[in-house]
Amino acid sequence: MKFVTMKNGKELQIRRATEDDAECMARFKAGISGESDFLSYGENEIVISAETERDMIRAHNETDNSVVFIALLDGEIAGFVNFRGGARLRKRHEGEMGISVRQKYWGLGIGNQLMDVLIDWARETKIIRKINLLTRADNETAIRLYEKFGFQKEGLITRDLYIKGIFYDAFIMGLPVDN
Ligand SMILES: CC(C)(COP(=O)(O)OP(=O)(O)OC[C@H]1O[C@@H](n2cnc3c(N)ncnc32)[C@H](O)[C@@H]1OP(=O)(O)O)[C@@H](O)C(=O)NCCC(=O)NCCS
Repeated sequence: MKFVTMKNGKELQIRRATEDDAECMARFKAGISGESDFLSYGENEIVISAETERDMIRAHNETDNSVVFIALLDGEIAGFVNFRGGARLRKRHEGEMGISVRQKYWGLGIGNQLMDVLIDWARETKIIRKINLLTRADNETAIRLYEKFGFQKEGLITRDLYIKGIFYDAFIMGLPVDN
């Protein structure tokens, strides 16, 4: 658990999600789905309910190479980061992360804090040796954040997203984790 005073003076709490956070997580996911076209789903495009979020949190918490961290501000989830490690022996050391922050809280440093917590956790597992992620190639804010933490672009996936008649490319980015 980590407490940080944000740029707006409010206290941010970052901790691992538990199944009790499912309802709060469903509200968060429903909120971000309409706020950004950089996500892999849009508003009302995927089923988001307390049940789906409870299953998601449980699936992450059941394994030692997956995690969900939430950032809480005023008792609500302001941001989240997850990492899903591979299931097979040959893939256990790597996986994909995802990060998002509610629009009203952008620019306060929550993204930086979540990246920091996730990378520390990955190092401490002694299992994770590689963090991968996908980002829309024009998501400059996110790419700058990832590069600041040492991620490098490893490849370009063309036509990764199709939104309102337009294709968007995505970078696959990666960070080796070595102690
Ligand atoms: C990308 C994202 C997670 C960053 O979260 P955040 O809490 O705003 O991040 P921070 O406040 O820590 O800022 C990260 C960097 O982006 C910059 N930044 C944040 N908001 C910005 C904005 N609106 N315009 C320009 N720069 C911005 C900050 O200056 C900061 O740079 P620094 O680390 O050099 O100071 C958030 O914008 C988001 O959820 N976006 C929508 C979903 C998304 O794109 N997720 C990633 C999918 S790959």
